[in-house]
Amino acid sequence: MLPTKAADAKLTTSTCRTPAIITSDTISKVLRQVRAQNLLECKLPTDAPVALFYDLDVFDDTLDRLKEAFGPRFYHCIAVKSCSHGPILRDVYRRHGVGVEAASMGEVMLGLEAGFEPSQMVFDSPCKTHRELAWALEQRIPCNLDNFAELGRAATIMQELGRAEGAGDASTLVGLRVNPLVGAGTIAALSVSTADSKFGIPLSDLDAILAAYEAHPWLNSVHVHVGSGGMATAVLLAGVKAVVGVAEAVNARWRARLATDEAFAATHAGRPSQVHCLDIGGGLPVNYWSDSAECSEPQEVVSFGAYAEELRAEVPALFLDPATEGGSFTRVITEYGQSATAKAGFLVSEVEFVKGPPERPIFMAHFGADTNVRQVQQLHTIIRHS
Ligand SMILES: Cc1ncc(COP(=O)(O)O)c(C=O)c1O
Repeated sequence: MLPTKAADAKLTTSTCRTPAIITSDTISKVLRQVRAQNLLECKLPTDAPVALFYDLDVFDDTLDRLKEAFGPRFYHCIAVKSCSHGPILRDVYRRHGVGVEAASMGEVMLGLEAGFEPSQMVFDSPCKTHRELAWALEQRIPCNLDNFAELGRAATIMQELGRAEGAGDASTLVGLRVNPLVGAGTIAALSVSTADSKFGIPLSDLDAILAAYEAHPWLNSVHVHVGSGGMATAVLLAGVKAVVGVAEAVNARWRARLATDEAFAATHAGRPSQVHCLDIGGGLPVNYWSDSAECSEPQEVVSFGAYAEELRAEVPALFLDPATEGGSFTRVITEYGQSATAKAGFLVSEVEFVKGPPERPIFMAHFGADTNVRQVQQLHTIIRHS
């Protein structure tokens, strides 16, 4: 257990060598130790009686299971929004060979400070400024573009960088985020695959998507993030399947051009597919309701292993090695957040005040304004975090 409080005291790990999850029992034990060691004591007016705990054994175990489930051809980028603590990110970097998914420039900076190379991250902000995008592309940070206007900016920048032709430059990953229109999960606000979703280019614009890939040979990846939490396995799988279809359509056109246009074939010699990376996002739900990793009620939560197995059955193309099995994708990226981190850590806060009527008490605690913002803002729709 690693508390992040100023004192940074180390609690005993003897009770939690390699458990798969942190249980309520473990949390109770830690809380007793927090009390006994007075870890939330505030000495300065700027101290807050709040601490974030991780069980590094559980985190290790979770990441090991993630890597094992999907196999060596998948590259896992942990969503920084689910774990933005520098020392933990550094630890992840040093020991696990996974990357980070950054939803903002601040998260990119956290990743770089933690030691990740630009190529080990993926920058997904749907609202990048021109400068952010230019800098990220110059640094060769893999980027996913949210919309056609952002694609236009990227095209200008690639021109300025002398990389517009994309010849021999397929290694810097740039993708379009596609909204597969596969429907919502149980949390409407966090479902981003509906027709009125705020993110990505809807699959209904397929012709424009294909034309964009044709016009910009440096586009070499396709991105999807179906939604967060509350997503049924079938919806996640349908989303991934839909964007693999997009990648295959792009690659079919690419191959046709290679076969018919000699100059094009000469420029892109050694690049049999345009899209050689698929980024399948995050979205696997977490069991917030009981002391086990999986559950079927109130919603289906499956293990990484079970999900990977279904993915293998539904979308085998993702698992085929281009060198030996005729696959198209040299890299498949995942961006798991909650499912990679939620059962490995917890927040503790002193409750400062309890107010309101007994049937609906309100607890005033020290996180919420800058941690768990989403949960606080969406109190009535959000999943229960026990
Ligand atoms: C683009 C993207 N990738 C990954 C994630 C992580 O999602 P989850 O925590 O549900 O795995 C999110 C969450 O909002 C996201 O927007």
